[in-house]
Amino acid sequence: MKKIKLAVLASGGGTNLQAIIDKIESGKLSAEIRVVISNNSKAFALERARKHNIKDVHLSHKMFETKDKFDEKLLEILKENKIDLVVLAGYMKILSPKVIRAYKNRMINIHPALLPHFGGTGMYGIHVHEAVIKSGVKVTGVTVHLVDEIYDHGAIIIQKCVPVEDSDTPESLAERVLKVEHQLYSEAIGLFAEEKIEVKGNRVYIKK
Ligand code: GAR
Repeated sequence: MKKIKLAVLASGGGTNLQAIIDKIESGKLSAEIRVVISNNSKAFALERARKHNIKDVHLSHKMFETKDKFDEKLLEILKENKIDLVVLAGYMKILSPKVIRAYKNRMINIHPALLPHFGGTGMYGIHVHEAVIKSGVKVTGVTVHLVDEIYDHGAIIIQKCVPVEDSDTPESLAERVLKVEHQLYSEAIGLFAEEKIEVKGNRVYIKK
């Protein structure tokens, strides 16, 4: 099977990146991470890439005079690495419409809740789990979705539920949700690798 070429963009610890690396190395995911890009030079995600001989790039808006110049550089890196799928894995920056459009239906994000709930501005990382617990819902989960120009809005590819226990703190819930993320992201990437994803309007259909 053809190996799908990935760029992974991450801002922090990169446990999702690690889970993808592990799946690839175990032979269970037909993919190749061509480059890991982070806006944060200290992101452990970059260290994880280096440990696995994956090209790592620190690319921040702060390194460029204008947003356009940043976009040009990012697009250049994606193009020169012949990227099929851009994978946002805890990437905490909003990409410009220009970049998003260039990878329409070829850029995905993982969100630690069941979108369209608990998404949008300010809903990232632990804030999501705090909001989930505060709301009193009994079920949360993980969403993998296509990235469009509206934050946390693109068509949903797969979701998985995680129960909220009475004893949960935001931290304990985050930990359980993260374990599910580690399974689900590779599953979603696998669907792209097997060319099973079909997009019609704001719906994703998974071919059998
Ligand atoms: C993950 O829980 C991911 O879903 C979340 O950040 C964490 C990154 O963890 N992303 C968002 O909240 C995006 N809105 P990681 O660096 O260990 O993969």
